[in-house]
Amino acid sequence: MGLKGKDLLSIHDLSIAEVEEIMDMTKMLKAKQQRGEKHHLLKGKTLGMIFQKSSTRTRVSFEVAMWQLGGMGLFLSSNDLQIGRGEPVKDTARVLSRYVDGIMIRTFSHQGVEELARYASVPVINGLTDLMHPCQALTDIYTVLEFKGDLKGRKLAYIGDGNNMAHSLMHACAKVGMHIAVATPEGYAPNSKIVAEARADGLLTGSTISLVVDPFEAAKDADVLYTDVWSSMGQEAEQMMRSRIFIDYQINHELLSVAKPDAIVMHCLPAHRGEEITDEAIEGPQSVVFDQAENRLHVQKAILALLMAK
Ligand code: CP
Ligand code: NVA
Repeated sequence: MGLKGKDLLSIHDLSIAEVEEIMDMTKMLKAKQQRGEKHHLLKGKTLGMIFQKSSTRTRVSFEVAMWQLGGMGLFLSSNDLQIGRGEPVKDTARVLSRYVDGIMIRTFSHQGVEELARYASVPVINGLTDLMHPCQALTDIYTVLEFKGDLKGRKLAYIGDGNNMAHSLMHACAKVGMHIAVATPEGYAPNSKIVAEARADGLLTGSTISLVVDPFEAAKDADVLYTDVWSSMGQEAEQMMRSRIFIDYQINHELLSVAKPDAIVMHCLPAHRGEEITDEAIEGPQSVVFDQAENRLHVQKAILALLMAK
């Protein structure tokens, strides 16, 4: 039992107790970091970090996380790896497993990550696919816990595209008993298989998952207003069309006025001011986006320490 040796591909695969374990470990490691206490739980261990898409937070926070845990992270751009020239994922998985103690991957295809995990003999961590972004959503619930003091019964309103962030947030909220209302334009609703998974998990925790079209309906009485970009990485060609379709899906003053007065504003970043969020909302007193970004480091340290435990 426990997380040791496991992969982290989707939050749905984690038990409720494992999610709690990640939250508890994060709190402990963040406190140690703040007190300046050494916490070399992964002394001498290495993490291979494969990137097939751009990244600021994920790349830097994982690399620093490994260093602070006494190990090291290796940045592996797919432009430089043989994987970029067609070496099969299954071969890459088996070779890297002979060198490193864990693999983090950011790529397009979720199935590609599942294949990597099937062939790797070390833990594999999903650092974002087109379908999911579990490390970000675990960070997000940790951040809500820090700011609100509890999670059960809280309401998160997600405004925008039914994308990887919407999916992982539904998974995460379902595990911790938070209600989530996802507002998307018609045709951009989240993946129905993931909605069904989250609803099934939600039955165990009392979490409800609602899908709506009206952002104001989602935002009503919410404790958290969350948004993400209208066009994700890989959707650059759709950018013009999407900026017309998503025009009403913005966190702004009007939307904040229907949420709870003490609602917090969250965004996984990078943000496009004037599109999915106004400058006023992201820079305003209710925004916690930079604490949220910082927490990527602390949550990932917990994930790494638990999965790659000696
Ligand atoms: N939020 C997030 O994953 O940011 P990066 O794309 O910069 O890693
Ligand atoms: N949905 C965004 C998240 C970036 C962290 C993307 O996939 O580009």
